[in-house]
Amino acid sequence: MTAPPTEKPSADGEWTVGKIIEWTTAHLKKHGSDTPRLEAEILLAFTRKCPRIQLYVQYNERLTDPQRAQMRELVKRRAQAEPVAYLVGHREFFGLDFQVTRDVLVPRPETETLVLELIAAAKPHPQARILDLCTGSGCIGIAAAVNLPAASVTASDISPAALAIARKNAESHQVESRVRLLEGDLFGPLGESDQFDVIASNPPYVADGEMATLPPDVRLHEPHLALQAGPQGLDVIRRVIAGACGHLAPGGMLLIEFSPEQAPAVSQLIEDAGLFDAPRLIKDSAGLVRVIAARRRTSV
Ligand SMILES: C[S@@+](CC[C@H](N)C(=O)[O-])C[C@H]1O[C@@H](n2cnc3c(N)ncnc32)[C@H](O)[C@@H]1O
Repeated sequence: MTAPPTEKPSADGEWTVGKIIEWTTAHLKKHGSDTPRLEAEILLAFTRKCPRIQLYVQYNERLTDPQRAQMRELVKRRAQAEPVAYLVGHREFFGLDFQVTRDVLVPRPETETLVLELIAAAKPHPQARILDLCTGSGCIGIAAAVNLPAASVTASDISPAALAIARKNAESHQVESRVRLLEGDLFGPLGESDQFDVIASNPPYVADGEMATLPPDVRLHEPHLALQAGPQGLDVIRRVIAGACGHLAPGGMLLIEFSPEQAPAVSQLIEDAGLFDAPRLIKDSAGLVRVIAARRRTSV
């Protein structure tokens, strides 16, 4: 890793916003980033404490020395595969800003597909009762609460550190009065009589043997508790399906995110449970099968 040079980038210029963006983009590209320009802009906007869009009107402005030092450090860490979201402490998801730390998975665009399905499934219920299992940053349940003003959301996670972040996110989106946060193993912290109209989950689903093959930003920096789930990656999904039967109201919807190659196995688990109508498989915006929607039968 080479840091940005301390000399002027060219005879005619200083380290301006525009030149830093260009240099950082090229540097991050060289280090394997798929979205180097976007990342360069996010890091620079964070450094200059301004919205990203404002960088365009600051294009010819020079960075101060402290800004250059901070930017140099951020770029160095990003080039060593640290996720941008952890470097700047937040991530946009479903049009909302979520605080993130190393205690939570960085919310992914593909999970927005799950949220769209969750909102559609909850809409017919005037005061929908929603369960977000494995909530992490809270992004799924909180996005639902923001978009469904009469809904009540229960969000659970086994990690107290993750729940602390989810709590901050619920507060910053002013939905904390409608988002109940529970700590524990899957359905464990729920009351026996707790029933939901929609249960949604993005659980850990990476197979043990795949952990070593994950990209370095995921493998080295994101919590393995949020990722790893047994030999086929199905250990948690299997328990979500089994436990959902006890907490899903008749006619209620179960929505689970998974890895595309797991679709046949997850469909089979739903069928084997014997309590659901034929499930629907939903593709994400990249065209990959990503979510299963299974409605609990009204009569069994
Ligand atoms: C893939 S992350 C999803 C986080 C968030 N819902 C999202 O979509 O970005 C899975 C989450 O499940 C939690 N988790 C793992 N095992 C669990 C268990 N047995 N019971 C409850 N939560 C669990 C992890 O702490 C992690 O926050």
